[in-house]
Amino acid sequence: MKIMFSDSREMPREGCLVAAIEKGGELPAVLRELDEKSAGQIARAMKAASFDGAKGSVVDIPAPYGLELDRLLLIGAGEVDDLDAWGAECLGGRMAGALMERKETQASVLALPPEGVDLPPTEWAVRISSGMALRNYVFDRYKSEKKDGENGENGRKNGKRISAVTVLVEDPQSAQKGWKERAGLVEAVHMARDLVNEPGNVLYPAEFARRVKELEKIGLEVEILDENKLKELGFGALLAVGQGSANAPCVAVMKWNGGKEGEAPVAFIGKGVTFDSGGISIKPSQGMEDMKGDMGGAAAVTGAMRALATRKAKVNAVGVIGLVENMPDGRAQRPGDVVKSLSGQTIAVLNTDAEGRLVLADCLTYARDTFKPALMIDLATLTGAILVALGKEYAGLFSNDDNLSEALRNAGEKTGEKVWRLPLGKAYDKLIDHDVADMKNIGGRNAGSITAAQFLKRFVEDTPWAHIDVAGTAMAAEKSDINTSWGAGWGVRLLDAFVRDREED
Ligand code: BES
Ligand code: MN
Ligand code: ZN
Repeated sequence: MKIMFSDSREMPREGCLVAAIEKGGELPAVLRELDEKSAGQIARAMKAASFDGAKGSVVDIPAPYGLELDRLLLIGAGEVDDLDAWGAECLGGRMAGALMERKETQASVLALPPEGVDLPPTEWAVRISSGMALRNYVFDRYKSEKKDGENGENGRKNGKRISAVTVLVEDPQSAQKGWKERAGLVEAVHMARDLVNEPGNVLYPAEFARRVKELEKIGLEVEILDENKLKELGFGALLAVGQGSANAPCVAVMKWNGGKEGEAPVAFIGKGVTFDSGGISIKPSQGMEDMKGDMGGAAAVTGAMRALATRKAKVNAVGVIGLVENMPDGRAQRPGDVVKSLSGQTIAVLNTDAEGRLVLADCLTYARDTFKPALMIDLATLTGAILVALGKEYAGLFSNDDNLSEALRNAGEKTGEKVWRLPLGKAYDKLIDHDVADMKNIGGRNAGSITAAQFLKRFVEDTPWAHIDVAGTAMAAEKSDINTSWGAGWGVRLLDAFVRDREED
């Protein structure tokens, strides 16, 4: 979507115009002028529709009398108190949604903050733009019946997505500058969504790695550890997960060095199971197709690293993602197998469907030993149990560090990618002890998300660490103001905000 900024004192005469009105608010001055020209039709339409600016309401005025506009769309912005940066993004998302519903592919958008909003006008316009661009995502690359212009390139009213928006602001230059800073984050979220939405036959470990490697173009350092290298290094737990698949596993390592030289990096670790059949402990067929999204953690890490590089963040960061496919086969690992992890600790694999923790165990060890990071954050679609506990509203947060937890909680509230902390403790840790090996990879029926986190904790030692279980938030996403796609790209904006707040300190 092309976004341009222009002066709100020169209102567009033609096409489709979108504006937001806060709850109980009045028409802004520039719209009052249009209302006069249309002999009061705008105010009449609002009244007739009982429009009071409530969130979720829309007044659609096609061909307003006395104006050359094709359409005026008024969007309810809701309560002014809710219009912080995240609220503005949601509003932008609803503006885009209203356009897309009507197949409008081009529009002008009035983006002046309503009175009482606590955001500078430029920031307001940038957030409206960001919300629009985030919403303007459709994963349709496998639809073959693309009729001429269906993507909005030709013809204003014939598209699935918006092709161009002119955002009307007081100071177009500064809005343009602000947007340049932000646009990369939107692209990073879109990339993460693409990765999650791709089917398993297209996105297998090597293909995921290839897409990561392409990020060298934007200044990331990328290293791919292939299967042989992983054998040499001793990634015994990760390799065991992949040994039943015709698609070889690999690990992608991304580095962004935007901080002080020699300063310990922040490390992001992602579960990248490109398809999780369960392995020999095979899953029921119902819903198994969703397991193409079992790499949502790795997608978030990739997106976050991309975002940091595009905005040249002043931070040292590394991303380590374990890419592997979990399949049943004559060579697949068996329930009861004992494997030796990179850390040297041995694991009895009692259930081959608890594979994510095996992948992460080695990636955490590798990140810690290789980069001596200041902190580690892993993201993983790790347990179905987190859906039982938190649904799709919050991701599960587990941590050995209160400050890190609090920072992530704050970043979550700011971005709408919310996390809720759950406990860790010795009593839970005991549940994964094993008589033959150092530990087993399942902890029994109860507290499934906690025992999974407890397992990971055995590989982090005393590095400040947080584990975010995104099984409920990364895939099969609930439709929201900023996303209607299956893949949410969840976590990219959270990690970006987390890093931003650290940089500001
Ligand atoms: N990838 C799944 C978890 C999952 C479930 C993600 C639903 C998204 C939606 C994970 O590998 C898994 O299979 N976990 C098992 C663990 C169990 C065998 C201890 C689970 O949650 O059932
Ligand atoms: Mn599994
Ligand atoms: Zn899995």
